[in-house]
Amino acid sequence: MAADVDQTNAGEPKDDHEARASPSSRVSRSRLKQTLSALFVIAAVPFIGFCIKYYQDTHLLKRHVSHSSLSGLRSWKRPAVPSSTYYASQFKVFLPTSGKYALGDTWWVVPSDLNIFTGYLPNNRYHPPTPRGKEVLIHSLLSMFHPRPFVKSRFAPQGVVALIRATSDYYYDIVFRIHAEFQLNDVPGFPFWFTPGQFAGNIILSKDASHVRSFHLYVPNDKSLNVDMEWLYGASESSNMEVDIGYLPQMELRAAGPSTPSVIYDEHGNVIDSRGEGGEPIQFVFEEIVWSAEISREEAARRLEVTMYPFTKADEKNPDLGEKAHLHLEKYTFPVQMMVALPNGTVVHHINANSFLDQTSMNPEEDGPGLSFSTGFEDPSTSTYIHFLQEGLEKAKPYLE
Ligand SMILES: *[C@@H]1O[C@H](CO)[C@@H](O)[C@H](O)[C@H]1NC(C)=O
Repeated sequence: MAADVDQTNAGEPKDDHEARASPSSRVSRSRLKQTLSALFVIAAVPFIGFCIKYYQDTHLLKRHVSHSSLSGLRSWKRPAVPSSTYYASQFKVFLPTSGKYALGDTWWVVPSDLNIFTGYLPNNRYHPPTPRGKEVLIHSLLSMFHPRPFVKSRFAPQGVVALIRATSDYYYDIVFRIHAEFQLNDVPGFPFWFTPGQFAGNIILSKDASHVRSFHLYVPNDKSLNVDMEWLYGASESSNMEVDIGYLPQMELRAAGPSTPSVIYDEHGNVIDSRGEGGEPIQFVFEEIVWSAEISREEAARRLEVTMYPFTKADEKNPDLGEKAHLHLEKYTFPVQMMVALPNGTVVHHINANSFLDQTSMNPEEDGPGLSFSTGFEDPSTSTYIHFLQEGLEKAKPYLE
């Protein structure tokens, strides 16, 4: 199935930040800064317009799929909210919690309640919990895609991390990474979880959060698979779950342009320009930002990943464990991999969960000789699993002799 939407009907995108022939474009920059910080607190008119480009293209296994399981996915053809307006000050949630963060230091915007060794949140939920604190803005942004975003995903990694990638006198460029997911079905359907690999993004905002210069939030599409889908086909938590993965070419939010105030005052508090009722926004000149210190986007992404997946740091603390983790990760492919390994970490046999599922749907007569052991089992996944283990033992033999 495929569906696509390309809606850009939010505030007209303004790519050129060049001077415009309007009276306020001649306001001097230093005064603009002062009025901005005052204005964004009191302005009653919101000022960031978002455009969403959203595109969905997935193929799905037909096995066990009843029409109702996929109804939430099939009917999700366009963003829930194509454009929305926000106050710049709402984006202060992306600022570091204390002013002490150095370039490249990560902090949790929304802390994780889970780690890789603890449990996970239940599958059998339809409506996200009421967002609190900094989750409110993240929830609101993700709600533009679909009305039921869960800011905290069921499994680790979970939450939102951020770091300062670059600073100038006036601005931070803050890079963030979000692990959230969507519940596409509603009662009486069974749950269907739609989990992008991650949401990445950055925001350039003034250090006092009075002005948002740019904002971008997106699902990276540089890997061949970037979304995980899981759906139950029974009402209880212990019901079997179907899994598939797919490719999401485009899912993103972009600010239509820098935030702009609705009213400008002179130094005596008199209004010198304002956004008329339904009129054109006030035009500004936005100068090129000169970063005084920065790290690369790649380095920023790597640091966010290490914070989300702390075991990637295992090499430093425990070289032996790090080596074993490394050997396993070499064989890993998204989303689930089964492995047979020697105690020293050498993986002798492995299979991806999707290949495994394909094998379980094969006609038993076509299976290899390993099946003789498992003829007593009716369930194809049980016999396929035993077959997999037998192959693993065969492949381990040369090492053990
Ligand atoms: C693990 O042990 C096997 C069998 O002794 C050996 O062949 C293999 O090279 C070892 N692998 C590593 C990474 O040490």
